[in-house]
Amino acid sequence: MTEQEPWKACLNLAEIEAAGAAAMAPGPRAYYAGGAADEVSMRDNRASFERWRIVPRMFVPNTPRDASVEVLGRRWPQPFAIAPMALQRNGHPDGEVAVARAAAARGLTYCLSTCASAGFDEIAATGAPRWFQLYLLSDRARSQALIEEAEATGHEALILTIDTPVTGLRERDIRDGYGLPKGVEYCLIRREGSQRGTSVLDDAIQPTYSWDDLAWVLSVTRMPVLVKGILHPEDARRAVEMGAAGIVVSNHGGRQLDMAIAGLDALPAIAEAVGDRGVVLMDGGVRRGTDVLIALALGARAVLLGRPVLFALPLGGEPAVGHALDLLTKEIDRALVLSGIPDAREWRREHLVRAGELPGRGA
Ligand SMILES: Cc1cc2nc3c(=O)[nH]c(=O)nc-3n(C[C@H](O)[C@H](O)[C@H](O)COP(=O)(O)O)c2cc1C
Repeated sequence: MTEQEPWKACLNLAEIEAAGAAAMAPGPRAYYAGGAADEVSMRDNRASFERWRIVPRMFVPNTPRDASVEVLGRRWPQPFAIAPMALQRNGHPDGEVAVARAAAARGLTYCLSTCASAGFDEIAATGAPRWFQLYLLSDRARSQALIEEAEATGHEALILTIDTPVTGLRERDIRDGYGLPKGVEYCLIRREGSQRGTSVLDDAIQPTYSWDDLAWVLSVTRMPVLVKGILHPEDARRAVEMGAAGIVVSNHGGRQLDMAIAGLDALPAIAEAVGDRGVVLMDGGVRRGTDVLIALALGARAVLLGRPVLFALPLGGEPAVGHALDLLTKEIDRALVLSGIPDAREWRREHLVRAGELPGRGA
């Protein structure tokens, strides 16, 4: 079994990441695994979860229990979706299509990246509930064309990522000589000329952003717009006041500004600033079911799952990705039982303490 189906031996997402990384060539592995500069923010994304502890309750009946949440009018069966991530064909020839199929089979939402190595129609054909992630391109007309195509192919929301006016300092990519593998290409921002590694992005993506850009995006789409990459509560407040439907609290997996605050650490203040004016999602370092629930307790409606999905790909495409998604789903269910908080929507700050901090009376 493990020869052809190595993912089956992986008991958790960390094991999937390790096995997937071992199965990849150094360049693409560096691209998936790497963070910016000293990778402090990337490591901190994990550490941020370990700074919290859950205070479980006993004698609580756990049937029925419910992991579902409502996000922008759709009931998500689990409180997570697939993060937008570039170039999934680096990991497997089926790339984005494999991931979207695995998501579709489970009713999970798939976020298609502007830097995808698959087209809108291919993702639409999987039937997955789908969102489109936009990087603003220097060429406004091309940005608008992407938005229109996303709408026409049934993408239900737009994630505008604003933390990437230039790519972060990805030293692993340079050290391990990452370049686009043969047969992998940017399908949505394809253009003549440079197709070398991440440089195509720096060529295509708008090199500076202002609030006017958000106003423009809001003015040209019917899709609800979530702004991804926000880490300051004032930025979150302004975005929802302008009409954004939500915020994705994220430091981009530690791949942009190293030393930036972890998404989980930024989350409580942002959730408070947004209030009921928008939906708040977070990502960065989510690897366990308990991570998902801690994020919910700190104000996220749901989270985005990142790298483990990418590292499942080289282990066997769609079924391996499905295994990763099922592992997280089962962990969430077990944690709902063991915590005595069997409804994902009921998780609150009061169910947590800081590691090292004693619960107060009545906690
Ligand atoms: C290889 C890779 C490519 C990514 N590409 C994109 C992208 O195209 N657009 C985007 O908004 N975020 C992108 N991200 C960031 C993810 O959406 C998400 O914020 C991050 O992966 C969360 O961190 P984690 O995977 O360590 O949990 C990418 C992340 C990785 C690892």
